[in-house]
Amino acid sequence: MAGWHRLTAFSSLGLLLLLLLLLLSARSSAKPLEKCTGDKSCQSPRPPVVLIPGDLGNQLEAKLDKPSVVHYICYKKTDTFFTLWLNLELLVPVAIDCWIDNIRLIYNRTTHTTSSPPGVEVRVPGFGQTYPLEFLDPSKRSVGMYFFSIVQAMEEWGYTRDDDVRGAPYDWRKAPNENKPYFLALQKMIEEMAQKAGGPVVLIAHSMGNMYTLYFLNQQPQAWKDKYIKAFVSLGAPWGGVAKTLRVIISGDNNRIPVISPLKIRSQQRSAVSTNWLLPYPSTWPQDQVLVQTSHTNYTVQDYQRLYKDVDFEDGWLMRQDTEPLVAELTPPGVAMHCLYGTGVPTPLSFQYGDKFPDVEPTVTDGDGDGTVNLQSSLQCKRWLGGQKEPVTLKELPGNEHVDMLTNFTTVAYIKTVLFPP
Ligand SMILES: *[C@@H]1O[C@H](CO)[C@@H](O)[C@H](O)[C@H]1NC(C)=O
Ligand SMILES: *[C@@H]1O[C@H](CO)[C@@H](O)[C@H](O)[C@H]1NC(C)=O
Ligand SMILES: *[C@@H]1O[C@H](CO)[C@@H](O)[C@H](O)[C@H]1NC(C)=O
Repeated sequence: MAGWHRLTAFSSLGLLLLLLLLLLSARSSAKPLEKCTGDKSCQSPRPPVVLIPGDLGNQLEAKLDKPSVVHYICYKKTDTFFTLWLNLELLVPVAIDCWIDNIRLIYNRTTHTTSSPPGVEVRVPGFGQTYPLEFLDPSKRSVGMYFFSIVQAMEEWGYTRDDDVRGAPYDWRKAPNENKPYFLALQKMIEEMAQKAGGPVVLIAHSMGNMYTLYFLNQQPQAWKDKYIKAFVSLGAPWGGVAKTLRVIISGDNNRIPVISPLKIRSQQRSAVSTNWLLPYPSTWPQDQVLVQTSHTNYTVQDYQRLYKDVDFEDGWLMRQDTEPLVAELTPPGVAMHCLYGTGVPTPLSFQYGDKFPDVEPTVTDGDGDGTVNLQSSLQCKRWLGGQKEPVTLKELPGNEHVDMLTNFTTVAYIKTVLFPP
């Protein structure tokens, strides 16, 4: 849900304020480093931090040796890996057809797993490093700025990139059921960082990264969490799913970039298992609330099987069934929680389609939220208040858009209070 078009919406005023904050905080927190020399009792003055990005929230690379291509301008074979996400040059007309044919997934109904098209190898670069999620575009154009502001602020507080602040990128096209090795690598990295620092780790996740983190924590024994996790800072979490994904599945969503046809990009968007995983959950949406309306049918959270059939995407129903149980119960994370969520931004809540359903753009009805995540979904964090022994804190960020909240002064200042309690 990083909605990469939104990454451009970085105001220069915000940047100025942030720089000011960085300058001020650098001055007030320039404490001397306490060097660890292998002595186990020696504790770092800072808890180590792991960053877990959201959907579309880290770089992906691809290498090609394809039997065929969809257009003569498409590369059939490359000698090395190239950036598949985010590279704006691949998203222009015609080239986007090649891109879609490389990034899409193919679902196997027998194994209930997905794979890249023949001859396409996709990998996630830089596990353990911050660069794949600081900027989505390796050329560091501000258009792809993502976790950069937070990491940059942390450096001012004494952190070192790829040492005590690390990134945990993953293949966000898939849901946790197909990313088992990722969770093992994440566990190992957390244990190593905690051992090195002599204290537990703070997890900071954005958007779908929160669902990944919840799934991860739900798999860990409580003793492990008590030992290794200090806190979980959750930014813009879609705990109960996101209504906007319905539009993505039905008619595609070009994120208002007119050169990209929504129907064209729809096939790729549908093929991402994670899109289907994020459909609204019955935990959060009333059983009778109409989310999608056509001239002759209404669809609620109870009608997904019919919806997938009616939009001629029955693999999607299988993907939904494969992934729905992963975090549907919203089992308490069992660690100290800080839930930060944006409000006051018009957020798609339901969609009305005309006669050409599903091959037509809907009329959108908005509700409250951060522009992507509906408010009732992010507020599911409340259910853990009193539902676990560890503290749960909710912090509303009025006027904060889903991705812009990562660069907001208030968010950065809040993270600082978690890392350096007053
Ligand atoms: C799905 O996977 C099974 C088992 O690995 C394999 O035999 C079958 O050919 C695959 N189906 C497709 C359509 O690739
Ligand atoms: C769909 O729901 C709306 C209210 O949300 C209602 O007015 C309409 O009659 C319903 N249509 C059908 C076909 O049930
Ligand atoms: C940052 O967030 C605060 C709290 O929600 C909000 O009042 C403020 O307008 C935001 N700042 C910017 C520059 O968006």
